[in-house]
Amino acid sequence: MAARNLGSSDSGTTVLDPAQAVATPEGAPAGKRRGRFHTLTVAEVRPLTQDSVEVTFAVPPELHGEYDYDPGQHLALRATIDGRELRRSYSICRPRTVGSVSVAIKRDLGGVFSSWANTELHAGDRLDVMSPQGTFTTALDTLDDTHIVGIAAGSGITPLMSLAHTVLERSATSRFTLVYTNRTALDVMFLDELADLKDKYPARLALHHVLSRQTRSSTLLSGRIDEEKLRLMLASIIRPAAVDEWFLCGPFELVQLCRDTLESVGVAPEHIRFELFTTGEPAHAGGDTGRPVIVAAGDKTFEIEFTLDGESATVTTPVNAKESILNAALRVRPDVPFACAGGVCGTCRAKLVSGDVTMTENYALEPDEIARGYVLTCQSHPTTDKVVVDYDV
Ligand SMILES: Cc1cc2nc3c(=O)[nH]c(=O)nc-3n(C[C@H](O)[C@H](O)[C@H](O)COP(=O)(O)OP(=O)(O)OC[C@H]3O[C@@H](n4cnc5c(N)ncnc54)[C@H](O)[C@@H]3O)c2cc1C
Ligand code: FES
Repeated sequence: MAARNLGSSDSGTTVLDPAQAVATPEGAPAGKRRGRFHTLTVAEVRPLTQDSVEVTFAVPPELHGEYDYDPGQHLALRATIDGRELRRSYSICRPRTVGSVSVAIKRDLGGVFSSWANTELHAGDRLDVMSPQGTFTTALDTLDDTHIVGIAAGSGITPLMSLAHTVLERSATSRFTLVYTNRTALDVMFLDELADLKDKYPARLALHHVLSRQTRSSTLLSGRIDEEKLRLMLASIIRPAAVDEWFLCGPFELVQLCRDTLESVGVAPEHIRFELFTTGEPAHAGGDTGRPVIVAAGDKTFEIEFTLDGESATVTTPVNAKESILNAALRVRPDVPFACAGGVCGTCRAKLVSGDVTMTENYALEPDEIARGYVLTCQSHPTTDKVVVDYDV
């Protein structure tokens, strides 16, 4: 891989009319699509860094509609590794491309799926790939004159690659500022592609590489991003008043720090969108999917009715089992969509039609989705005798 200079630039700022702000994903085109697995062929596995690869799948013509994604969306991969069926979500890293879909997988130290993908996955292999999901995207039809800022760490660059590329390509008056932090220059994923994007849009893309364990010429771009450094950035290279929408993707602590700091300088929460890859709590990974639950005679039960692909089904769950709606639903419909089962990816989203639930964790649903009655079924537990949810709406 050719060594590239990280560079740094700011294309300047323009104060925009707040009425043009893209604040919510309401107008975003894809939003929710029912997740379905299809077996796709790996077209290419391309090394990005020592511990990450880009995996491109070929999408046959009859499935083009199923994989017609929005930038920022992710998809779940399913594989059986050492006898265990695993599902993991990966963000799509390229702008919409007919006939293929690409993700980038960074090897997580001790991580089962990401290690396997980095060492065992090859062109020609066949893998189960779910249709794209997620609302970490922007309204593509109102991009003119907008300024979007992305802050990413490590593999968190993947959805922002797709977003930055798309935003700059779609509107000649849009601007994108990307702050991308890594330990060292060797850890930077898509180093060449980012440099090429900068070359293509020199005035509209501002690219700032921050290295936490390597000294750069600017102190602002050296060391960990903490509150002090972020505040300095917001007072110099990024002026929040000139930004329409913020996209954050990285570890929980960094996303939290950015949200808090942005809000403290007056950025409205509805202009800040974020995607977490993990909560950093392994105890939640996998949730209770597959946990056997036996309904014995005389048990007090909740009744769960759900609709999936236009077909309704009913399942009962013992009150004492404290089972999630997803786990109960999987007993009668193994194709109920889910990936992380930990409240992070949003793949198991459904609308609560009647009854009530409590949600244990929610790192995926936006406040407006909750207000419209959506729940994460992997995290939802009935609190009324009968609960009705709909996966189709
Ligand atoms: C919406 C979304 C998008 C994502 N996009 C991307 C992407 O674009 N690129 C990308 O690389 N990743 C992405 N991820 C993360 C990805 O889904 C996986 O979580 C990641 O690859 C790790 O999976 P794994 O199977 O390798 O690790 P796992 O085997 O699940 O382990 C995860 C981590 O937990 C540790 N661990 C596991 N079990 C224990 C235990 N019992 N005690 C303590 N520690 C433990 C492991 O060492 C490892 O560090 C995304 C996640 C989500 C939710
Ligand atoms: S399956 Fe990921 S949030 Fe429920």
